[in-house]
Amino acid sequence: MMPEIISEYQKKNLTVSNYCAKLMLKANLTVRNANMVLRKDIVMALTTDMCVIRLGKGESISNELAEILDEVDIASIHSFVVPLERPTELHYHDFDEYWLFTEGSTTVTLRLPDGTTKEYEIRPYELIATPKGVEHGHVPNETVKGFEFVSKIRNGIRHGHLYR
Ligand SMILES: [Fe+2]
Repeated sequence: MMPEIISEYQKKNLTVSNYCAKLMLKANLTVRNANMVLRKDIVMALTTDMCVIRLGKGESISNELAEILDEVDIASIHSFVVPLERPTELHYHDFDEYWLFTEGSTTVTLRLPDGTTKEYEIRPYELIATPKGVEHGHVPNETVKGFEFVSKIRNGIRHGHLYR
């Protein structure tokens, strides 16, 4: 499988890093049916687990995820308060979005472009980092507070919430 994948990309003058090729092989993925992210010369398999970073437990954004995230627009940072009765419906963006929770608990749902869906119980000092195209929403278990920021919005991309 792997040599065929690499040769396919070499024909297109793209380079597949050894690490990413191993990821693809390990997950038994093909170029056609995977949650593949192609950015510059990087091809990788994205998982929902990569998007949940338990900062309070010493975790940080993985190098693999960082490679596909755009530069953050630090001017976009703002606080949010989401009460119990106002869940955030599943949606996605054409840019990356980050939720950093500081109070309360909530159940976050993440869904990849192929429909793979997983829920996570999220508490303070935990970060949800959703690359462009990854659906995200949450249902608070109580009032939750935190900070939200996004990546720099390039010309021509769509703004706001998008739905599948
Ligand atoms: Fe969002």
